[in-house]
Amino acid sequence: MSDFDVKTFKIPGQHYLDGVLLGGYSPRESIEMVKTFDMFEDDCVVSAYPKSGQTWTLELLYLILHYDNYSENEETDSLLRTPWLELGKIDNARIRELGEVPRPRVFKTHVAAHQLPEQMREKHSKMIHVLRNPKDVAVSYYHFYRMDASLGRFPGTWSQFYEMFMAGNVSHGSWFDHVLQFWREYKDNKDVLFLHYEDMVKDHAGAVRKIANFLGKSLNENVAEEIVRRTSFGSMKQNPATNFSKYEGFDYSVSHFYRKGKVGDWKNYFTVQQNDEFDEVYRAKMADSGLNVDFGE
Ligand code: A3P
Repeated sequence: MSDFDVKTFKIPGQHYLDGVLLGGYSPRESIEMVKTFDMFEDDCVVSAYPKSGQTWTLELLYLILHYDNYSENEETDSLLRTPWLELGKIDNARIRELGEVPRPRVFKTHVAAHQLPEQMREKHSKMIHVLRNPKDVAVSYYHFYRMDASLGRFPGTWSQFYEMFMAGNVSHGSWFDHVLQFWREYKDNKDVLFLHYEDMVKDHAGAVRKIANFLGKSLNENVAEEIVRRTSFGSMKQNPATNFSKYEGFDYSVSHFYRKGKVGDWKNYFTVQQNDEFDEVYRAKMADSGLNVDFGE
């Protein structure tokens, strides 16, 4: 570990688009094609900076919208039920595959706000943007970088990753830029809901109600309870349709996709100096935005 030079580290397929570092799973052509992707009025996109609780939100949304046949959740992998808009090479076959997802369709994306499908505004498709406090995002991302082959199985230390994260030198760039762009662009848009991971952890059932209200869905009490049960951290970790156990890129001897699912784990990683520096950067970048996150302090 000690002779690892972080300056030489690159993720597979690393490239830059609009100044933002990206990996091989989001090539330039795919992201560019997202912009012109055909949307329906009843589509819903879940956007997030990586490690913000997006997989959890996608599953909640899918079950709320498709609760009539929610046993399907046991059989079909979440990546097929709630596909990633920009994943891999977008060609005609992939566009057809995305088009065939049963409506109402739920899509996952990490693209920046200005790279979203242009039709979303005119069709009034819904979007949920998931936010998580960036200190926990950084820690979660560090472990994910260590375990995921598509992120190069980062062999460095927490402090080395922290420096990369603060410099925006990680896949999808700076947390601050990504989140602020969405917030400034969409905070007053009634087709967009900003959901905070910390609120979901504090009140899981409340999050189900909030999403259902946003989508104009009424859920009976039993269905709502069943959705909470099926989307608990433990259930999603156990469920082969949500736990990515078929995906060979993850090294589970290093970490787990469903790692801790807690608020405030950053306190086990950040040094006092890193925390002071982070708070200063956070204040400078976020102070005037009106966006607040809960660090679990
Ligand atoms: P940790 O690494 O802190 O455990 P994403 O889906 O955006 O990649 O986010 C992954 C993070 O969300 C991981 O955080 C993961 O454990 C957490 N997570 C996933 N499902 C969850 C659930 N049902 N409840 C709480 N946290 C969940």
